[in-house]
Amino acid sequence: MIMSRIEAPPEEGAAPRGDLVGRLLAGLPAEAVHTDADVTASYAHDMASFCPSGAPAVVVLPRTVEQVQHVLRVASELRVPVVPQGARTGLSGAANAVDGCVVLSLTKMDAILEISPVDRIAVVEPGVVNAALSRAVGEHGLYYPPDPSSWETCTIGGNIGTASGGLCCVKYGVTAEYVLGLDVVLADGRLMSTGRRTAKGVAGYDLTRLFVGSEGSLGVIVRAVLALRPRPPQQLVLAAEFASAAAACDAVCRIMAGGHVPSLLELMDRTTVKAVNSLARMGLPETTEALLLAAFDTPAPADDLAAVAALCEAAGATQVVPADDAAESELLLQARRLSLTALEAVKGTTMVDDVCVPRSRLGDMLEGTERIAEKHRLTIGVCAHAGDGNTHPVVCFDAQDPDESRRARESFDEIMDLGLRLGGTITGEHGVGVLKKEWLARELGPVGVEMQRAVKQVFDPLGILNPGKLF
Ligand code: LAC
Ligand code: ZN
Repeated sequence: MIMSRIEAPPEEGAAPRGDLVGRLLAGLPAEAVHTDADVTASYAHDMASFCPSGAPAVVVLPRTVEQVQHVLRVASELRVPVVPQGARTGLSGAANAVDGCVVLSLTKMDAILEISPVDRIAVVEPGVVNAALSRAVGEHGLYYPPDPSSWETCTIGGNIGTASGGLCCVKYGVTAEYVLGLDVVLADGRLMSTGRRTAKGVAGYDLTRLFVGSEGSLGVIVRAVLALRPRPPQQLVLAAEFASAAAACDAVCRIMAGGHVPSLLELMDRTTVKAVNSLARMGLPETTEALLLAAFDTPAPADDLAAVAALCEAAGATQVVPADDAAESELLLQARRLSLTALEAVKGTTMVDDVCVPRSRLGDMLEGTERIAEKHRLTIGVCAHAGDGNTHPVVCFDAQDPDESRRARESFDEIMDLGLRLGGTITGEHGVGVLKKEWLARELGPVGVEMQRAVKQVFDPLGILNPGKLF
Protein backbone atom coordinates (compact mmCIF):
# COMPACT_ATOMS: atom_id res chain seq x y z
CA MET A 1 0.00 0.00 0.00
CA ILE A 2 1.16 3.50 -0.72
CA MET A 3 -0.10 6.25 1.49
CA SER A 4 1.10 9.76 1.06
CA ARG A 5 0.06 12.24 3.66
CA ILE A 6 -1.04 15.68 2.64
CA GLU A 7 0.38 18.14 5.14
CA ALA A 8 -2.08 20.96 4.72
CA PRO A 9 -1.79 23.86 7.18
CA PRO A 10 -4.86 24.22 9.42
CA GLU A 11 -7.46 26.39 7.77
CA GLU A 12 -7.67 29.96 8.86
CA GLY A 13 -10.07 30.23 11.76
CA ALA A 14 -9.82 26.51 12.56
CA ALA A 15 -10.07 25.72 16.26
CA PRO A 16 -6.94 24.81 18.20
CA ARG A 17 -6.94 21.09 18.99
CA GLY A 18 -7.19 21.67 22.74
CA ASP A 19 -10.48 23.51 22.36
CA LEU A 20 -11.82 20.82 20.09
CA VAL A 21 -11.01 17.95 22.41
CA GLY A 22 -12.27 19.82 25.47
CA ARG A 23 -15.54 20.61 23.74
CA LEU A 24 -15.96 17.02 22.59
CA LEU A 25 -15.32 15.72 26.11
CA ALA A 26 -18.13 17.91 27.42
CA GLY A 27 -20.64 15.57 25.77
CA LEU A 28 -18.74 12.28 25.46
CA PRO A 29 -17.23 9.85 27.96
CA ALA A 30 -13.42 9.98 28.08
CA GLU A 31 -13.08 6.41 26.73
CA ALA A 32 -14.85 7.49 23.53
CA VAL A 33 -12.28 10.17 22.69
CA HIS A 34 -8.78 9.22 21.48
CA THR A 35 -5.94 11.61 20.82
CA ASP A 36 -2.93 9.31 21.16
CA ALA A 37 -1.00 9.69 17.90
CA ASP A 38 -0.57 5.93 17.39
CA VAL A 39 -4.28 5.38 17.83
CA THR A 40 -5.35 8.26 15.59
CA ALA A 41 -2.85 7.19 12.90
CA SER A 42 -4.45 3.75 12.83
CA TYR A 43 -7.73 5.40 11.72
CA ALA A 44 -6.12 7.44 8.93
CA HIS A 45 -7.18 5.47 5.89
CA ASP A 46 -9.14 2.66 4.30
CA MET A 47 -7.75 -0.10 2.08
CA ALA A 48 -7.23 1.86 -1.13
CA SER A 49 -3.78 2.50 -2.57
CA PHE A 50 -2.60 5.83 -4.01
CA CYS A 51 -5.02 7.85 -1.93
CA PRO A 52 -3.80 10.77 0.18
CA SER A 53 -4.74 10.70 3.83
CA GLY A 54 -4.15 13.20 6.61
CA ALA A 55 -3.60 13.03 10.37
CA PRO A 56 -6.82 13.13 12.45
CA ALA A 57 -6.80 15.50 15.43
CA VAL A 58 -9.01 13.11 17.33
CA VAL A 59 -10.85 9.83 16.90
CA VAL A 60 -14.30 9.60 18.46
CA LEU A 61 -16.18 6.34 19.01
CA PRO A 62 -19.71 7.31 20.08
CA ARG A 63 -22.24 4.82 21.41
CA THR A 64 -25.44 6.85 21.11
CA VAL A 65 -27.24 9.07 18.63
CA GLU A 66 -27.03 11.96 21.10
CA GLN A 67 -23.26 11.60 21.23
CA VAL A 68 -23.06 11.76 17.43
CA GLN A 69 -25.24 14.89 17.51
CA HIS A 70 -22.90 16.44 20.05
CA VAL A 71 -19.87 15.75 17.83
CA LEU A 72 -21.54 17.37 14.81
CA ARG A 73 -22.64 20.41 16.81
CA VAL A 74 -19.11 20.96 18.09
CA ALA A 75 -17.61 20.39 14.65
CA SER A 76 -20.03 22.86 13.07
CA GLU A 77 -19.34 25.51 15.67
CA LEU A 78 -15.58 25.12 15.40
CA ARG A 79 -15.61 24.50 11.63
CA VAL A 80 -13.69 21.24 12.00
CA PRO A 81 -13.98 18.53 9.32
CA VAL A 82 -15.65 15.27 10.29
CA VAL A 83 -14.78 12.00 8.55
CA PRO A 84 -17.34 9.25 9.26
CA GLN A 85 -15.94 5.71 9.18
CA GLY A 86 -17.10 2.13 9.34
CA ALA A 87 -14.58 -0.72 9.30
CA ARG A 88 -12.36 1.02 6.70
CA THR A 89 -12.50 -1.90 4.29
CA GLY A 90 -13.37 0.50 1.44
CA LEU A 91 -11.34 0.57 -1.74
CA SER A 92 -11.51 4.19 -2.87
CA GLY A 93 -10.20 6.29 0.03
CA ALA A 94 -13.68 7.53 0.95
CA ALA A 95 -12.96 6.96 4.65
CA ASN A 96 -9.55 8.65 4.60
CA ALA A 97 -8.84 11.28 7.23
CA VAL A 98 -7.91 14.86 6.42
CA ASP A 99 -5.45 16.78 8.58
CA GLY A 100 -6.96 18.05 11.82
CA CYS A 101 -10.27 16.25 11.37
CA VAL A 102 -12.50 14.41 13.79
CA VAL A 103 -12.66 10.77 12.72
CA LEU A 104 -16.14 9.63 13.68
CA SER A 105 -15.98 5.86 13.89
CA LEU A 106 -19.43 4.28 14.13
CA THR A 107 -18.13 0.80 14.95
CA LYS A 108 -19.28 0.86 18.59
CA MET A 109 -22.88 1.52 17.58
CA ASP A 110 -23.39 -2.09 16.60
CA ALA A 111 -26.77 -3.11 17.97
CA ILE A 112 -29.39 -4.98 15.98
CA LEU A 113 -32.43 -3.18 17.33
CA GLU A 114 -35.20 -5.21 15.74
CA ILE A 115 -35.84 -8.12 13.39
CA SER A 116 -39.43 -8.46 12.18
CA PRO A 117 -40.35 -11.57 10.16
CA VAL A 118 -43.83 -10.13 9.46
CA ASP A 119 -42.61 -6.79 8.16
CA ARG A 120 -39.50 -8.45 6.76
CA ILE A 121 -37.25 -5.74 8.06
CA ALA A 122 -34.31 -5.32 10.39
CA VAL A 123 -33.56 -2.09 12.21
CA VAL A 124 -29.87 -1.69 12.95
CA GLU A 125 -27.22 0.68 14.14
CA PRO A 126 -24.54 1.49 11.58
CA GLY A 127 -21.67 -0.44 13.17
CA VAL A 128 -23.30 -3.87 12.81
CA VAL A 129 -21.02 -6.17 10.85
CA ASN A 130 -22.59 -7.45 7.63
CA ALA A 131 -22.04 -11.14 8.43
CA ALA A 132 -23.36 -10.70 11.98
CA LEU A 133 -26.60 -9.30 10.58
CA SER A 134 -26.83 -12.09 8.00
CA ARG A 135 -26.46 -14.72 10.72
CA ALA A 136 -28.92 -13.02 13.06
CA VAL A 137 -31.68 -12.72 10.46
CA GLY A 138 -30.92 -16.27 9.27
CA GLU A 139 -32.08 -17.52 12.68
CA HIS A 140 -35.51 -16.07 11.82
CA GLY A 141 -35.59 -17.75 8.39
CA LEU A 142 -34.69 -14.44 6.75
CA TYR A 143 -31.96 -13.24 4.41
CA TYR A 144 -30.06 -9.95 4.03
CA PRO A 145 -28.57 -10.38 0.55
CA PRO A 146 -25.85 -7.72 -0.01
CA ASP A 147 -22.58 -9.60 0.59
CA PRO A 148 -19.37 -7.71 -0.20
CA SER A 149 -16.25 -9.92 -0.16
CA SER A 150 -15.31 -8.20 3.12
CA TRP A 151 -18.63 -9.23 4.69
CA GLU A 152 -17.01 -10.77 7.77
CA THR A 153 -15.64 -7.37 8.80
CA CYS A 154 -17.38 -4.55 6.92
CA THR A 155 -20.22 -2.67 8.58
CA ILE A 156 -23.74 -1.91 7.40
CA GLY A 157 -23.11 1.83 7.79
CA GLY A 158 -20.08 1.54 5.54
CA ASN A 159 -22.05 -0.61 3.09
CA ILE A 160 -24.72 2.10 2.89
CA GLY A 161 -22.22 4.93 2.69
CA THR A 162 -20.44 3.31 -0.22
CA ALA A 163 -23.49 1.64 -1.82
CA SER A 164 -21.63 -1.64 -1.80
CA GLY A 165 -22.49 -4.73 -3.79
CA GLY A 166 -21.20 -8.27 -3.62
CA LEU A 167 -21.56 -11.70 -5.13
CA CYS A 168 -25.30 -12.21 -4.88
CA CYS A 169 -26.27 -8.94 -6.61
CA VAL A 170 -26.88 -10.57 -9.97
CA LYS A 171 -30.06 -12.04 -8.51
CA TYR A 172 -30.82 -9.93 -5.45
CA GLY A 173 -29.53 -6.47 -6.29
CA VAL A 174 -27.24 -4.11 -4.37
CA THR A 175 -27.38 -2.39 -0.97
CA ALA A 176 -29.53 0.48 -2.29
CA GLU A 177 -32.38 -1.93 -2.89
CA TYR A 178 -32.45 -2.96 0.78
CA VAL A 179 -32.35 0.41 2.53
CA LEU A 180 -35.91 1.50 3.33
CA GLY A 181 -35.28 4.26 5.84
CA LEU A 182 -32.53 6.04 7.69
CA ASP A 183 -31.91 8.20 10.72
CA VAL A 184 -29.24 10.70 9.85
CA VAL A 185 -27.43 13.27 11.97
CA LEU A 186 -27.03 16.35 9.83
CA ALA A 187 -23.96 18.59 9.73
CA ASP A 188 -25.41 20.96 12.34
CA GLY A 189 -26.39 18.13 14.70
CA ARG A 190 -30.10 17.93 13.86
CA LEU A 191 -31.59 14.44 13.53
CA MET A 192 -33.52 13.63 10.35
CA SER A 193 -35.54 10.51 9.58
CA THR A 194 -35.96 9.49 5.95
CA GLY A 195 -38.02 6.83 4.27
CA ARG A 196 -40.19 4.24 5.91
CA ARG A 197 -40.56 0.83 7.48
CA THR A 198 -43.48 -0.10 5.25
CA ALA A 199 -43.39 -2.28 2.14
CA LYS A 200 -44.33 0.72 -0.02
CA GLY A 201 -44.04 4.48 0.32
CA VAL A 202 -43.63 7.43 -2.04
CA ALA A 203 -43.91 10.44 0.26
CA GLY A 204 -41.64 13.14 -1.13
CA TYR A 205 -38.18 12.99 -2.62
CA ASP A 206 -36.31 9.76 -1.98
CA LEU A 207 -33.73 11.11 0.44
CA THR A 208 -32.99 7.61 1.66
CA ARG A 209 -31.61 6.67 -1.72
CA LEU A 210 -29.67 9.93 -1.86
CA PHE A 211 -27.74 8.90 1.23
CA VAL A 212 -26.86 5.48 -0.19
CA GLY A 213 -23.43 5.97 -1.74
CA SER A 214 -23.04 9.52 -0.38
CA GLU A 215 -19.73 8.50 1.25
CA GLY A 216 -20.31 10.43 4.46
CA SER A 217 -20.53 13.72 2.61
CA LEU A 218 -24.16 14.60 3.43
CA GLY A 219 -24.73 13.42 6.99
CA VAL A 220 -23.97 10.63 9.44
CA ILE A 221 -26.17 7.54 9.31
CA VAL A 222 -27.02 6.41 12.85
CA ARG A 223 -29.83 3.93 12.21
CA ALA A 224 -31.11 2.02 9.20
CA VAL A 225 -34.30 0.15 8.36
CA LEU A 226 -33.34 -2.70 6.03
CA ALA A 227 -35.53 -4.89 3.87
CA LEU A 228 -35.11 -8.64 4.26
CA ARG A 229 -36.04 -11.59 2.08
CA PRO A 230 -37.13 -15.08 3.02
CA ARG A 231 -34.04 -17.24 3.33
CA PRO A 232 -33.57 -19.15 0.06
CA PRO A 233 -32.45 -22.78 -0.11
CA GLN A 234 -28.69 -23.38 0.17
CA GLN A 235 -27.08 -22.56 -3.16
CA LEU A 236 -25.16 -25.06 -5.26
CA VAL A 237 -22.21 -23.91 -7.35
CA LEU A 238 -20.90 -25.08 -10.69
CA ALA A 239 -17.37 -24.37 -11.92
CA ALA A 240 -16.75 -24.12 -15.67
CA GLU A 241 -13.30 -23.85 -17.22
CA PHE A 242 -12.63 -22.01 -20.48
CA ALA A 243 -9.67 -21.79 -22.83
CA SER A 244 -10.23 -18.03 -23.24
CA ALA A 245 -11.84 -15.16 -21.37
CA ALA A 246 -13.88 -14.46 -24.50
CA ALA A 247 -15.48 -17.92 -24.35
CA ALA A 248 -16.34 -17.43 -20.67
CA CYS A 249 -17.97 -14.06 -21.48
CA ASP A 250 -19.91 -15.71 -24.28
CA ALA A 251 -21.22 -18.23 -21.73
CA VAL A 252 -22.30 -15.37 -19.45
CA CYS A 253 -24.26 -13.80 -22.33
CA ARG A 254 -25.91 -17.11 -23.19
CA ILE A 255 -26.91 -17.69 -19.56
CA MET A 256 -28.42 -14.23 -19.14
CA ALA A 257 -30.08 -14.18 -22.57
CA GLY A 258 -31.55 -17.61 -21.78
CA GLY A 259 -33.57 -16.13 -18.94
CA HIS A 260 -31.71 -17.92 -16.16
CA VAL A 261 -31.49 -16.32 -12.74
CA PRO A 262 -28.30 -17.52 -11.06
CA SER A 263 -27.71 -16.47 -7.46
CA LEU A 264 -24.17 -15.65 -8.50
CA LEU A 265 -22.19 -15.63 -11.71
CA GLU A 266 -18.53 -14.88 -11.07
CA LEU A 267 -15.39 -14.98 -13.14
CA MET A 268 -11.75 -15.45 -12.16
CA ASP A 269 -9.03 -15.22 -14.78
CA ARG A 270 -5.90 -17.37 -14.89
CA THR A 271 -3.81 -14.85 -12.91
CA THR A 272 -6.43 -14.69 -10.17
CA VAL A 273 -6.80 -18.47 -9.99
CA LYS A 274 -3.02 -18.89 -9.65
CA ALA A 275 -2.82 -16.18 -6.99
CA VAL A 276 -5.60 -17.78 -4.93
CA ASN A 277 -3.92 -21.19 -5.19
CA SER A 278 -0.59 -19.75 -4.03
CA LEU A 279 -2.19 -18.01 -1.09
CA ALA A 280 -4.56 -20.72 0.10
CA ARG A 281 -3.77 -23.95 -1.79
CA MET A 282 -7.37 -24.19 -2.96
CA GLY A 283 -6.55 -26.61 -5.79
CA LEU A 284 -8.30 -24.53 -8.46
CA PRO A 285 -7.48 -25.54 -12.06
CA GLU A 286 -4.46 -23.44 -13.06
CA THR A 287 -4.33 -24.42 -16.73
CA THR A 288 -7.62 -22.73 -17.45
CA GLU A 289 -7.72 -19.17 -18.86
CA ALA A 290 -11.00 -18.30 -17.17
CA LEU A 291 -13.00 -19.97 -14.46
CA LEU A 292 -16.71 -19.22 -14.28
CA LEU A 293 -18.67 -19.92 -11.10
CA ALA A 294 -22.45 -20.10 -11.41
CA ALA A 295 -24.82 -20.87 -8.56
CA PHE A 296 -28.53 -21.43 -8.05
CA ASP A 297 -30.45 -21.25 -4.80
CA THR A 298 -33.67 -22.53 -6.36
CA PRO A 299 -35.65 -25.49 -4.97
CA ALA A 300 -34.14 -27.78 -7.64
CA PRO A 301 -30.69 -26.30 -8.28
CA ALA A 302 -29.42 -29.43 -10.03
CA ASP A 303 -31.83 -28.82 -12.95
CA ASP A 304 -30.79 -25.19 -13.29
CA LEU A 305 -27.13 -26.11 -13.07
CA ALA A 306 -27.57 -28.75 -15.80
CA ALA A 307 -29.11 -26.14 -18.12
CA VAL A 308 -26.27 -23.70 -17.42
CA ALA A 309 -23.68 -26.45 -17.85
CA ALA A 310 -25.07 -27.10 -21.33
CA LEU A 311 -24.79 -23.40 -22.19
CA CYS A 312 -21.20 -23.29 -20.92
CA GLU A 313 -20.35 -26.29 -23.09
CA ALA A 314 -22.00 -24.65 -26.10
CA ALA A 315 -19.75 -21.62 -25.47
CA GLY A 316 -16.70 -23.88 -25.52
CA ALA A 317 -16.11 -24.78 -21.86
CA THR A 318 -13.29 -27.31 -21.61
CA GLN A 319 -14.64 -28.73 -18.36
CA VAL A 320 -17.78 -28.22 -16.29
CA VAL A 321 -17.81 -29.50 -12.71
CA PRO A 322 -20.79 -29.08 -10.40
CA ALA A 323 -19.90 -28.94 -6.70
CA ASP A 324 -20.83 -32.13 -4.87
CA ASP A 325 -22.54 -30.42 -2.00
CA ALA A 326 -23.03 -27.20 -0.06
CA ALA A 327 -19.61 -27.47 1.62
CA GLU A 328 -17.78 -27.72 -1.69
CA SER A 329 -19.88 -24.84 -3.03
CA GLU A 330 -18.86 -22.72 -0.07
CA LEU A 331 -15.19 -23.51 -0.69
CA LEU A 332 -15.45 -22.24 -4.26
CA LEU A 333 -17.01 -19.01 -3.01
CA GLN A 334 -14.31 -18.62 -0.42
CA ALA A 335 -11.76 -18.92 -3.23
CA ARG A 336 -13.55 -16.16 -5.12
CA ARG A 337 -13.74 -13.92 -2.06
CA LEU A 338 -10.01 -14.34 -1.51
CA SER A 339 -9.20 -13.00 -4.99
CA LEU A 340 -8.25 -9.48 -3.98
CA THR A 341 -6.11 -10.50 -1.00
CA ALA A 342 -4.42 -13.13 -3.17
CA LEU A 343 -3.65 -10.65 -5.96
CA GLU A 344 -2.23 -8.22 -3.40
CA ALA A 345 0.38 -10.86 -2.53
CA VAL A 346 1.59 -11.04 -6.17
CA LYS A 347 3.65 -7.84 -6.07
CA GLY A 348 2.83 -6.30 -2.71
CA THR A 349 0.56 -3.51 -3.96
CA THR A 350 -2.57 -3.30 -6.07
CA MET A 351 -4.84 -0.73 -7.62
CA VAL A 352 -8.33 -2.15 -7.90
CA ASP A 353 -10.57 -1.05 -10.73
CA ASP A 354 -14.33 -1.46 -10.43
CA VAL A 355 -15.61 -0.78 -13.93
CA CYS A 356 -19.11 -2.02 -14.67
CA VAL A 357 -20.16 -2.38 -18.31
CA PRO A 358 -23.35 -3.58 -19.94
CA ARG A 359 -22.87 -7.32 -19.67
CA SER A 360 -23.10 -7.61 -23.47
CA ARG A 361 -19.74 -5.72 -23.54
CA LEU A 362 -17.99 -7.86 -20.92
CA GLY A 363 -15.90 -9.65 -23.54
CA ASP A 364 -14.68 -6.32 -24.97
CA MET A 365 -13.84 -5.12 -21.47
CA LEU A 366 -11.72 -8.16 -20.68
CA GLU A 367 -9.99 -8.14 -24.04
CA GLY A 368 -9.22 -4.42 -23.73
CA THR A 369 -7.87 -4.93 -20.21
CA GLU A 370 -5.50 -7.60 -21.51
CA ARG A 371 -4.21 -5.17 -24.13
CA ILE A 372 -3.64 -2.51 -21.48
CA ALA A 373 -1.69 -5.01 -19.34
CA GLU A 374 0.51 -5.93 -22.32
CA LYS A 375 1.12 -2.31 -23.28
CA HIS A 376 2.27 -1.41 -19.76
CA ARG A 377 4.09 -4.72 -19.14
CA LEU A 378 2.09 -5.32 -15.96
CA THR A 379 0.24 -8.18 -14.31
CA ILE A 380 -3.44 -7.33 -14.17
CA GLY A 381 -5.56 -10.09 -12.65
CA VAL A 382 -9.29 -9.91 -13.25
CA CYS A 383 -12.03 -11.14 -11.00
CA ALA A 384 -15.53 -10.08 -11.93
CA HIS A 385 -19.14 -10.18 -10.91
CA ALA A 386 -19.59 -11.33 -14.48
CA GLY A 387 -23.37 -11.59 -14.37
CA ASP A 388 -23.50 -7.86 -13.55
CA GLY A 389 -20.80 -6.87 -16.05
CA ASN A 390 -18.90 -5.59 -12.99
CA THR A 391 -15.17 -6.21 -13.44
CA HIS A 392 -12.30 -5.81 -10.98
CA PRO A 393 -9.13 -5.57 -13.03
CA VAL A 394 -6.53 -5.62 -10.25
CA VAL A 395 -3.28 -3.95 -11.26
CA CYS A 396 -0.41 -5.65 -9.40
CA PHE A 397 2.81 -3.69 -8.93
CA ASP A 398 5.84 -3.02 -6.78
CA ALA A 399 5.30 0.30 -5.03
CA GLN A 400 9.07 0.66 -4.49
CA ASP A 401 9.57 0.87 -8.25
CA PRO A 402 8.61 4.39 -9.40
CA ASP A 403 8.38 3.49 -13.07
CA GLU A 404 6.18 0.47 -12.38
CA SER A 405 4.02 2.59 -10.05
CA ARG A 406 3.56 5.17 -12.81
CA ARG A 407 2.58 2.48 -15.31
CA ALA A 408 0.17 1.01 -12.76
CA ARG A 409 -1.59 4.35 -12.31
CA GLU A 410 -1.76 4.84 -16.09
CA SER A 411 -3.28 1.43 -16.69
CA PHE A 412 -5.72 1.95 -13.82
CA ASP A 413 -6.92 5.12 -15.59
CA GLU A 414 -6.96 3.55 -19.05
CA ILE A 415 -9.21 0.78 -17.74
CA MET A 416 -11.76 3.37 -16.57
CA ASP A 417 -11.51 5.15 -19.90
CA LEU A 418 -12.20 1.86 -21.67
CA GLY A 419 -15.18 1.20 -19.39
CA LEU A 420 -16.74 4.58 -20.19
CA ARG A 421 -16.19 4.05 -23.92
CA LEU A 422 -18.03 0.73 -23.66
CA GLY A 423 -21.06 2.46 -22.15
CA GLY A 424 -20.15 1.58 -18.57
CA THR A 425 -19.45 3.33 -15.31
CA ILE A 426 -16.15 3.94 -13.50
CA THR A 427 -17.48 2.25 -10.37
CA GLY A 428 -20.04 -0.49 -9.95
CA GLU A 429 -19.72 -0.87 -6.19
CA HIS A 430 -16.52 0.55 -4.64
CA GLY A 431 -17.40 4.22 -4.93
CA VAL A 432 -15.47 7.35 -5.88
CA GLY A 433 -13.73 8.48 -2.68
CA VAL A 434 -10.55 10.32 -3.53
CA LEU A 435 -9.35 7.73 -6.00
CA LYS A 436 -11.71 8.47 -8.89
CA LYS A 437 -12.60 12.13 -8.37
CA GLU A 438 -11.51 13.34 -11.79
CA TRP A 439 -13.24 10.39 -13.33
CA LEU A 440 -16.53 11.15 -11.61
CA ALA A 441 -16.54 14.58 -13.22
CA ARG A 442 -15.90 12.95 -16.55
CA GLU A 443 -18.71 10.43 -16.13
CA LEU A 444 -21.29 12.93 -14.88
CA GLY A 445 -20.43 15.88 -17.12
CA PRO A 446 -20.46 19.55 -16.01
CA VAL A 447 -24.21 19.84 -15.48
CA GLY A 448 -24.35 16.64 -13.47
CA VAL A 449 -21.46 17.78 -11.26
CA GLU A 450 -23.05 21.20 -10.74
CA MET A 451 -26.31 19.66 -9.53
CA GLN A 452 -24.49 17.23 -7.25
CA ARG A 453 -22.48 20.08 -5.75
CA ALA A 454 -25.73 21.96 -5.18
CA VAL A 455 -27.11 19.00 -3.22
CA LYS A 456 -23.94 18.89 -1.13
CA GLN A 457 -24.29 22.61 -0.40
CA VAL A 458 -27.83 22.13 0.98
CA PHE A 459 -26.80 19.39 3.38
CA ASP A 460 -23.35 20.66 4.29
CA PRO A 461 -23.17 24.44 3.81
CA LEU A 462 -19.97 24.73 5.88
CA GLY A 463 -18.25 21.93 3.97
CA ILE A 464 -17.25 20.02 7.12
CA LEU A 465 -18.55 16.57 6.14
CA ASN A 466 -15.86 14.34 4.68
CA PRO A 467 -14.31 17.13 2.62
CA GLY A 468 -12.30 16.31 -0.49
CA LYS A 469 -14.27 13.19 -1.40
CA LEU A 470 -16.33 12.66 -4.56
CA PHE A 471 -15.71 16.08 -6.21
C1 LAC B 1 -14.59 -8.31 -4.72
C2 LAC B 1 -14.30 -6.95 -4.17
C3 LAC B 1 -12.94 -6.48 -4.61
O1 LAC B 1 -15.44 -8.42 -5.57
O2 LAC B 1 -15.26 -6.04 -4.56
O3 LAC B 1 -13.94 -9.26 -4.28
ZN1 ZN C 1 -16.58 -6.82 -6.04
